[in-house]
Order: sequence, then structure tokens, then C-alpha cells
Amino acid sequence: MFSYQLYNLVHIVGLVLVMAGLGGMIVTVIAGGEQRSVWARRSAAAFHGLGIFLILLGGFGMLARLGLVRGTPWPGWVWVKAFVWGTLALAAFLPYRYPKTAKPLLLLLPVLGGFAAYMAIYKPL
Ligand code: HEM
Repeated sequence: MFSYQLYNLVHIVGLVLVMAGLGGMIVTVIAGGEQRSVWARRSAAAFHGLGIFLILLGGFGMLARLGLVRGTPWPGWVWVKAFVWGTLALAAFLPYRYPKTAKPLLLLLPVLGGFAAYMAIYKPL
């Protein structure tokens, strides 16, 4: 059985990877359009993909350790975090396709991350 602490670590590594991946994609677009380095493009996408998976793995692992197992209705704070997770997952499709979204997305990332952390720590819903 993996511990709550291990799931928490996995969760936080996941959100660091997602922010690094999305940040890399966004700053490249802001700095000058399409990415010339295939390595950089693939690494940003890999960071994002792996991070999105690890957030989920760590998050559900912690839910289980908190006793929020299958059949127990999710409290509001988990639904809000799931929504933030979905937004961060889909955000990767925006910067290259719609370069105008890059700057607002860059400002939105810390807001989304902070909001998800606030929900987890204060559980207001
Ligand atoms: C489906 C998506 C998610 C689920 C199920 C989930 C679940 C959880 C759970 C169960 C906790 C522990 C709460 C506690 O111990 O009282 C937690 C903590 C946390 N989550 Fe999430 N989360 C999700 C998405 C996210 C996202 C997208 C972010 C940020 C981008 C995030 C950031 C955090 C942070 C910073 C903590 C606090 C860790 C700590 O106190 O050590 N989570 N999450």
C-alpha cells in the first residue's frame, strides 16, 4: 500500500511538470512563433502529458487515503480541482493553434494552480 505522503509527492511533482510543460509551450509561442527545436517541443508535450497523469494518480491516491473511496460522493473542493485539472489538460491544445491565447494563458497558470492549492488546503466547499 502506497502512503498518503507518497501520493502527495507524486501529485506535486505532477503539477510542477504540467506548469513546466505548459510554460515552455507558451513562452516559445510568445517569443517568436513556431518551435524550431523538435526536442523542445516534444519535451514540453511529454512534461505536460506525464504531469497530467501524475496529478491524477497522486490525487486519487490521496482521496483513497482520506477515505473518499468509490461510491462516496465527492465534496465540492474535489470537483473544482477536477475542473482545474481538465482546464490544464486542454490548455496544451491552445498556444500553437491560437497564439493569441499564449499571453493570457501565461497569466492564468499561477491563478489556476493557486486556486487548486487553495481548494485542497482550505476545502471551502
Ligand atoms: C482530478 C484532479 C485532482 C484531484 C482528485 C486532487 C486531489 C487532491 C487531494 C485529495 C489532496 C489532499 C488534500 C488533503 O490532504 O487534505 C490534494 C492536495 C493538493 N492538490 Fe490536488 N487534486 C487534483 C488536481 C489538482 C491540480 C490540477 C492542482 C494544481 C494545479 C492540485 C494541487 C494540489 C496541491 C498544491 C495540494 C496540497 C498539497 C499539500 O498540502 O501538501 N491538485 N489534491
